[in-house]
Amino acid sequence: MTEEHEPQGTVSRRSFIEGLGFATGGVVVGTVIGVAIPGVGGDDDDGDAVARPPSDGGDGTPTPADGDPVVTPMVATAHPRVKVGTVSGLNTGDVIDFNYPTEQSAASLVKLGRPAAGGIGEDGDIVAFGTDCTHMGCPLAGTFKVEHGILGPCGCHFTTFDLGRRGSVVLGQATSNLPQILLDIEGDDIIAVGTLGIFYGFRDNLADITIVEGI
Ligand code: FES
Repeated sequence: MTEEHEPQGTVSRRSFIEGLGFATGGVVVGTVIGVAIPGVGGDDDDGDAVARPPSDGGDGTPTPADGDPVVTPMVATAHPRVKVGTVSGLNTGDVIDFNYPTEQSAASLVKLGRPAAGGIGEDGDIVAFGTDCTHMGCPLAGTFKVEHGILGPCGCHFTTFDLGRRGSVVLGQATSNLPQILLDIEGDDIIAVGTLGIFYGFRDNLADITIVEGI
């Protein structure tokens, strides 16, 4: 069965996936959710997204209430379930590169060695992200630094991303998180099931393109 890291008071990865119907896989479902970005506010201490009802400024436009953090919308999309690795085959610091959800979309599966937002596995420390920089698309593959849990700095303009906090920007030119690959576990297999966030070069969440073949 699925194992996961579930800090209290957060939207867990499992309930989030089940709420979108991701467990059945296959169907592309675009859903906008509010994900609070570290540094702007709204994550809990572990960097997990916190569910927040929208407030209304009086004209129907949701606005943050006084004292509320700014919440940045991200888009979650279900894609075919694809095996990307095994739990037993991953040690802390390991990286598995793969393509998901398109054959052109570079992504990496990593084991951080510390609990991560959206992480799976016994320690909640296995995560995956698209590795095209969200600033101008330069490749980030090969820049994982396990001691800091970061990807980067990007070779083009030095943006660095925190993989323990949903790929948020630590420093640099980019203004958007790396897109996170949503993961599930079946037995020992690690399964990619969807994405959270926009991949570089797309103005929406990978609609109308060919996605990788599911298992
Ligand atoms: Fe990565 Fe500019 S393309 S920081």
